[in-house]
Amino acid sequence: MSEPDTTALTEAVLKSFAGAPDPRVRAVLHQLISHLHAFVREAGVTFDEWRYAIDFLTRTGHKSGAIRQEFILLSDVLGVSMLVDAINHADHSGATETTVLGPFYVGEHRVAAHGSDLAPDEPGERVYVEASVSDTAGRPITGAAIDVWHADGAGFYDSQRLGYTLDQPAMRARFITGDDGRFAFRTIVPCSYPVPTDGPVGELLTAGNRHAMRPAHIHFLIRAAGFEDLVTHVFVEGDEYLDSDAVFGVKPSLIAKLETRTAATWPDGTPAPARWHHMAYQFAMKGVR
Ligand code: BEZ
Ligand code: FE
Repeated sequence: MSEPDTTALTEAVLKSFAGAPDPRVRAVLHQLISHLHAFVREAGVTFDEWRYAIDFLTRTGHKSGAIRQEFILLSDVLGVSMLVDAINHADHSGATETTVLGPFYVGEHRVAAHGSDLAPDEPGERVYVEASVSDTAGRPITGAAIDVWHADGAGFYDSQRLGYTLDQPAMRARFITGDDGRFAFRTIVPCSYPVPTDGPVGELLTAGNRHAMRPAHIHFLIRAAGFEDLVTHVFVEGDEYLDSDAVFGVKPSLIAKLETRTAATWPDGTPAPARWHHMAYQFAMKGVR
């Protein structure tokens, strides 16, 4: 069977949007239609597949709301989130590299004292995190706000728990740097965990015979006046999923070693458990031009 000539259809659709007054909208729509039509043509999409795609996207929308964002998760597992990150942070010029925000950031509003325990009631190995925030020349940044969040030992964020409310945070807090640009906290050692698989994205992962796991990490969102917001994670060295993160978010510069310690006190001099871990990381922020 010979291929129908569909170029006239594509041309007609492109022409129908050619008068969009905003030049950026005009350019992006042109690219979108050109690539979408080429995709349908090259893949030879059938009616059944087209109907399935519409249903998949409809269910993705129905799964999304204030606390769960299935469209972002879809973008994440397709590598689109990291592609947008890559093309927008091509020049990080000595600043800490960025990665996905993820769906579990809820906007922190508990400012915690340096050294605070973010997970006093959670079972698990303990870690003391000592970090600093500087500019790319190594000068400490005073007054930087650092939002921190991570999963529990079973792989769930507090916001995934039934009845979660913003005023009862667990394993998340905000720190403000002093003159030395430093901050510290203790918590449990995070573990690797699966992205949510009970929606259409889980179906997509199954269809691709892919696992849903993310390597263990702690999220950081750092804001400081005069600097670009820094959205990143610090990953735990040695995790078995570092090379196959379900959302492609790992960058080697973001992997940190957890050193096992047996000292009787934490670095701040308070009593420590018999065995604990220490993690250090230096964040560098890029100035706003
Ligand atoms: C996360 O690290 O919290 C995350 C990122 C992308 C998708 C799902 C979870
Ligand atoms: Fe996470």
